[in-house]
Amino acid sequence: MNKMYKLLLTACVVAISAMTLLAGSINNREAERIELAKAPVIEKAIQNKNEEWERYYPRQYGSWKKTKEGDKLIDMLKENPQLVVLWAGYGFSKDYNAPRGHYYALQDNVNTLRTGAPVDGKTGPMPTACWTCKSPDVPRIQERDGELEFFTGKWAKYGNEIVNTIGCANCHSNQTGELAVRVPHLNRALISAGLPTFENSTHQEKRSLVCAQCHNEYYFHKTPWTDKNGVKKIAKVTTLPWANGLTVEGKEKYYDDLNFSDWTHKLSKTRMLKAQHPGYSLYKTGIHGQKGVSCADCHMPYTQEGSVKYSDHQLQNPLNTMDRSCMPCHRESEEKLKSIVHRKYDRKEQLAQIVMDNLAKAHLETAKAMEAGANDADLKDIRADIRSAQWKWDYAVASHAGFFHAPEETLRILSVANETAMQGRIKLVSVLAEHGVKRYIAPDFSTKDIAQKLVGVPFKKLVEEKLRFKATLEKEWYKQAVANHNLNPEKSRVGLDEINTAYSK
Ligand code: HEC
Ligand code: HEC
Ligand code: HEC
Ligand code: HEC
Repeated sequence: MNKMYKLLLTACVVAISAMTLLAGSINNREAERIELAKAPVIEKAIQNKNEEWERYYPRQYGSWKKTKEGDKLIDMLKENPQLVVLWAGYGFSKDYNAPRGHYYALQDNVNTLRTGAPVDGKTGPMPTACWTCKSPDVPRIQERDGELEFFTGKWAKYGNEIVNTIGCANCHSNQTGELAVRVPHLNRALISAGLPTFENSTHQEKRSLVCAQCHNEYYFHKTPWTDKNGVKKIAKVTTLPWANGLTVEGKEKYYDDLNFSDWTHKLSKTRMLKAQHPGYSLYKTGIHGQKGVSCADCHMPYTQEGSVKYSDHQLQNPLNTMDRSCMPCHRESEEKLKSIVHRKYDRKEQLAQIVMDNLAKAHLETAKAMEAGANDADLKDIRADIRSAQWKWDYAVASHAGFFHAPEETLRILSVANETAMQGRIKLVSVLAEHGVKRYIAPDFSTKDIAQKLVGVPFKKLVEEKLRFKATLEKEWYKQAVANHNLNPEKSRVGLDEINTAYSK
């Protein structure tokens, strides 16, 4: 009896403790929920400074800051020297690295040889639009100066203003804390494609659309306008070419109808298109996109910390977080799933290498035909093939991880690209023969160095100018930004003053 009483008592104590613990956990969750619901208004003037959000949202801030761990620098021109030939005469043949963590987005834009070495706010080479996807200072300035003023002038005009990397105010409202798109070009594109605006989209779609602000193909649309003092100006407005739909063919037609080109190829004199990371569009065609799995489901998985659940803001490769990113939906082992993903990469890579090789040779063979006397009429169809093929190849590979997000579409586009490049090369054999050139073999482009010499990239000079810029004007920018209370270097520039680039090694 005594024993029985003791047992009962113990059971009661255990049950009561468990209930107290449970109640505690419910209370904690409730507190967290209320905490989030009474989202603080973060003053407009300081919303660009990511560290100002920390005291309200320490977990999201803490995980966001860990994008600093995505610091691996991969020189894509070294990995694939064909790229130098494909982009001859264009910035990307100077310097091009694989994407890194959001922590580095702004600094990598400042560091790349593509943005050149301005000496004041008026020198180029790039337009202001090059800042669009790099910083929460962009919505701040668009609201302050007006969107068209923001898109007018050279990149260096805002060097002392755009100083904080991608952060909270790029994806959240500072008023409500809710998801928001902070730049008007995405809604304009959605409307042009006949899709619901961000505000009219489902919550699940918003979890992808915030990424679509930047992970998308764009171009700079020349827009004449008159400012409030009556001065006539030309803005170069970041625009998503979605009016014929989000497909690779729809966008190509859009550019062809506009007679648009990003640059004229230095060797083949083809009017080219440059595709830029059409991540969102391509993902939409894949099985996860079709089934309504959002970017955030994989890249920002829910994380449990004690009794609190929050979205992991360390945007990175989800294969590092498979237990949280994939396993909520998949049953196979992590190893099995990972090996499926790697095999998808190998398939894409095999085809991409073949296309790059054919395209590089097509440019060089066209240059040879010109040297041998072929004229624009002889080369018209060939150049049309090169333009179309390179656009498609670029679209497929510039879309980061397209091989996983949308494997079938990626391989389809690469196959069409290769077929079109080969059609061009078959025509080139005839044109070359007509001008007395037989069995021509394109020159070697097997390393970055050889390829850059071949297409005339003055690499050493570009690096010297860039380093001078970094020692002078860039330093001045941050001094001014601190003086204007827009930058807190102790919090937001940790490690960024060390020059970690493909050219500093
Ligand atoms: C304001 C523009 C912007 C927004 C919004 C944005 N990104 Fe990015 N993202 C970038 C840029 C720019 C880079 C490349 C940075 C670099 O290389 O320095 C990048 C890089 C990445 C990387 C590579 C990270 C690494 O460590 O290799 C991933 C993954 C990523 N973004 C996913 C996302 C997802 C998912 C979303 C939406 C939840 C998103 N991004 C929203 C601009 C943006
Ligand atoms: C690239 C876009 C992006 C950036 C940058 C970003 N967030 Fe988020 N954030 C999201 C998404 C997507 C969610 C999920 C929202 C949902 O499903 O309701 C989210 C959710 C949240 C939530 C709601 C609770 C939770 O964890 O799900 C808070 C609070 C939050 N973010 C704060 C921040 C803070 C603070 C920063 C800056 C340090 C930040 N976010 C930067 C996209 C972003
Ligand atoms: C079903 C899960 C899933 C969804 C949904 C998803 N991704 Fe990914 N993403 C991945 C995986 C896995 C990788 C890494 C593949 C690899 O390189 O091994 C990746 C890679 C990336 C990378 C390149 C990272 C790098 O360092 O190369 C970017 C950028 C990216 N995703 C952005 C997005 C955006 C933007 C969306 C939504 C439009 C999205 N992802 C939707 C799983 C997903
Ligand atoms: C929200 C649920 C969800 C998440 C999260 C998710 N998946 Fe999936 N995945 C699906 C669905 C649904 C399919 C379609 C197949 C099906 O219906 O069974 C699929 C299909 C796949 C396929 C086969 C399709 C193809 O493209 O060949 C692979 C591989 C895959 N997922 C990998 C991943 C990986 C890796 C992650 C994590 C980075 C991930 N998934 C995260 C739901 C999810």
